[in-house]
Amino acid sequence: MKYTLTTSIPDKLSTPCLVTTLAQAKRLIKDAQAKKALRLATSDFEDKADQKLLINLPGPIARLALIGGGAAAKTRKDYRNIAQAAAAMVQTLPVRQVFIALDQVSIRGTRSEWKAQTLAQAISLAMYRYDSHKSKPAKRPQVTGARVVYTGKTTAAKTAACMNALDAGLALSRDLGNEPPNVCNPTYLLQQARKLRSAKVKVSNLTEKRMEELGMGAFMAVSRGSDTPGQMIIIEYNGGKKSEAPYALVGKGITFDTGGISLKPPGAMDEMKFDMCGAATVMGATKAVIEAKLPINLVTIVAAAENMPSGNATRPADIVTTASGQTVEILNTDAEGRLVLCDALTHVQKFKPRAIVDVATLTGACIVALGSTASALYSNSDDLAGALLDSGEETGDRAWRMPLWEEYHSQLKSNFADMANIGGREAGSVTAACFLEKFVNGVDWAHLDVAGSAFFGGARKGASGRPVPLLFDYLRQQSGV
Ligand code: BES
Ligand code: MN
Ligand code: ZN
Repeated sequence: MKYTLTTSIPDKLSTPCLVTTLAQAKRLIKDAQAKKALRLATSDFEDKADQKLLINLPGPIARLALIGGGAAAKTRKDYRNIAQAAAAMVQTLPVRQVFIALDQVSIRGTRSEWKAQTLAQAISLAMYRYDSHKSKPAKRPQVTGARVVYTGKTTAAKTAACMNALDAGLALSRDLGNEPPNVCNPTYLLQQARKLRSAKVKVSNLTEKRMEELGMGAFMAVSRGSDTPGQMIIIEYNGGKKSEAPYALVGKGITFDTGGISLKPPGAMDEMKFDMCGAATVMGATKAVIEAKLPINLVTIVAAAENMPSGNATRPADIVTTASGQTVEILNTDAEGRLVLCDALTHVQKFKPRAIVDVATLTGACIVALGSTASALYSNSDDLAGALLDSGEETGDRAWRMPLWEEYHSQLKSNFADMANIGGREAGSVTAACFLEKFVNGVDWAHLDVAGSAFFGGARKGASGRPVPLLFDYLRQQSGV
């Protein structure tokens, strides 16, 4: 989808389809015959949320996609509903271009920038298709371009760039997440990362040999059971001044999680192809940052490995030494995400980041606690946590803060090593986060457990793209754009 913005509505608007509210349609439709047709077609139309209507008109506005609820809209949630209704409509339209006038809907505390971005996010999510493995692809939506009315203070060019950047970032993250695990393995993730290369973007990788040399015993404990070699993928984007410390994103990239020797039960094991959604979303957010040309430096690390049982796999009770020097007793090989992440967190500190945000489908316990509505947020910095929570509210890609108290840390005690990799039945998402905190050395850090939010199960099975909107908004706010 290609978004363009217009700061004024042409007097004689001509478009294959106008998407707007009833009040605005009455203003914009000037052709006498079309006015009459509109009156007739909308005589039974209830201007309420969830109501929509598509009508064909004579004159230069060939179609009108009416979205209900514009007059009564007050809250951000109301506008999101309008945006979603518009998106649902747009994906079914038999035209290539649409003209969207929903900027006039007045929502207290929001600006035109927010409305445009919210609209684009809803449309991008609704228009997404994943059918590359169907022998006969389904019919795709025909709309390829949306012209959106915009009255914001940020230049239209900058705002449009961010809308298109988010579209590209969301699509990348969902494609990577949906790709089957026999295709999307650590090597594939590396190849996809390399596609981001440009004058400002450097992509490198640590092979297993190099990771052994760096003492990454925790990462290797996971990867050694698989015949497909693991990769630590490093994407460096230099959009800011040379002297500026980078922001850092770290993603869990378990391209398939069988549990290892602590083998998972078969029910829904296929969903463990989504165990690289942390990686997919940090890559998606990175793509968005690059496309939007945000004036920041960013380093993104993807810890990519496959968690398999084999004659060479780690056993429960094995003790390994991490790159930080701390030792870990691996009591459950299914708690593998924290093992690959801890070595990635150690490595990312070589870049002297100003803040680190890691994203991981880390625990089933996170789903029990928060379901799919919110990602779990953990942070050692109130400022960083606040900024991320704000971005969650701003984008509707919400997170909820959870504690990292000492009481939880003590659940990770081991009789034999510096720590165990599991903390017992209670508070599983919290103890996983506490494990990670032991590797950040006080650097500003946040962890998003997205086990519930990153993908849908059941009939809607597929990657959601979350938390790309949250991450992109956070980095955009930081960049001042
Ligand atoms: N990848 C899983 C967590 C997960 C489960 C994500 C379901 C999405 C949906 C993770 O590696 C895992 O297996 N965690 C264990 C931890 C336990 C062994 C302490 C879990 O949650 O059961
Ligand atoms: Mn696991
Ligand atoms: Zn996992």
